Amino acid sequence: MPIAQLGPGQTAQAILDHLESIRTNDVRWRDGRCFTLAYSAGSDVLALAEESYRRFSGENALNTGAFPSLRVMQQEVVDIVSGWAHGDETTAGFMTSGGTESLVLAVRSARKRAEREGRNLKRMNMVLPASAHAAFEKGADYFDVESRRIPVGADWKADVNAMRDACDEETILIVGSAPQYPQGVIDPIAEIAEIAAQRNINCHVDACMGGVTLTYLERLGEPITPWDFRCDGVTSISIDLHKYGYTSKGSGVLLHRTKALRSDQTFITDNWLGGFYGSSGILGTKSGGPIASSWAVLHYLGDDGYKRVTKSARESTMRIYKHIDAHTDLEVRGVPDSTLLSFGTKDPNRHDVFAIADRLISTGWYMDKQTPPASIHLTVMAVHAPHVDEFLRDLDEAVRQVGSEKGSSGAYATAD
Ligand SMILES: Cc1ncc(COP(=O)(O)O)c(C=O)c1O
Repeated sequence: MPIAQLGPGQTAQAILDHLESIRTNDVRWRDGRCFTLAYSAGSDVLALAEESYRRFSGENALNTGAFPSLRVMQQEVVDIVSGWAHGDETTAGFMTSGGTESLVLAVRSARKRAEREGRNLKRMNMVLPASAHAAFEKGADYFDVESRRIPVGADWKADVNAMRDACDEETILIVGSAPQYPQGVIDPIAEIAEIAAQRNINCHVDACMGGVTLTYLERLGEPITPWDFRCDGVTSISIDLHKYGYTSKGSGVLLHRTKALRSDQTFITDNWLGGFYGSSGILGTKSGGPIASSWAVLHYLGDDGYKRVTKSARESTMRIYKHIDAHTDLEVRGVPDSTLLSFGTKDPNRHDVFAIADRLISTGWYMDKQTPPASIHLTVMAVHAPHVDEFLRDLDEAVRQVGSEKGSSGAYATAD
């Protein structure tokens, strides 16, 4: 319904009612039927996240001198996240608006470091697995860095030898993900970081998806591929809180091994008529909402809460994984290392996986359709636990009914 239909001069209540009415076709993520885009660990966590966001939504984190509350909360959030990643007293970071900003800034930081160290390079490049998130391309585009994408191995993990071979004197950044988004597997971070250490260049670990989950899975006793600052050569790590931290949108953390490396992220100038201007990220003015929401949820869930929600999401993931792995018509793409998985059909000529997705979506579920190869992608969260049986029943039913139907392809984006 176009907003104009409401007409001007309405009461606040009429406007709020209208807002509720125009969202009726939106994905129902709060009730556990959505496997992408929005994260929930239950209504109590959501209520706190939203209320704390609301109270600080108008505050401006551009100048935390004016809002010391934001400075303190941001520092506490960064310190907690640094602890998860096994940072130490030299580790330094800032909150960002989420994964994309963190990755774009990781590319920018690598470029700035090369300049700061006086390397005279013609065309800088970064070496990364084909599976690394699209936002690295955005960073490469913004900061004029060549992107060297290296095919992944049969297990969907980064091919370290091929990455080593792709590096040259103009390489400024090498990347691994923990886990990568498309198939949910962790790259061999320790070996990737070793290449960076030998070359004295940046190594960014994209743990936007896994930073919280891998921390708490390890604390729960699961064996985890090393991914954090315990790997020599890792220079920066991104961890999103608006994903498995279950905070409101607009919240991630970008950590650097040292303050000097963090200085490559910040922007400062006095080349205008307004005096000294400094900012830690891409935005200038930014809402205090995500900072307050993150601080509140981190303190509400705490270690015990994160263990509980992580265990729940992991158990649901493995139940779905085992069901699909044993299915006569479906096949998983890799063994999930955290709480993301993807799957396709064994015989794409017989069953089109996008047609299966369309049937599931028509019954109220929501998920990503991804290529290549054509797959359904599931991001499994704490809120899914009570819905797994129903999902698997509906999935089996969709496979039975789909016949030779062809589905529509999907996009993980908005382009107009
Ligand atoms: C591994 C990974 N990195 C980065 C991002 C980008 O995060 P955002 O969408 O919060 O910008 C995502 C998003 O799904 C992701 O899965």
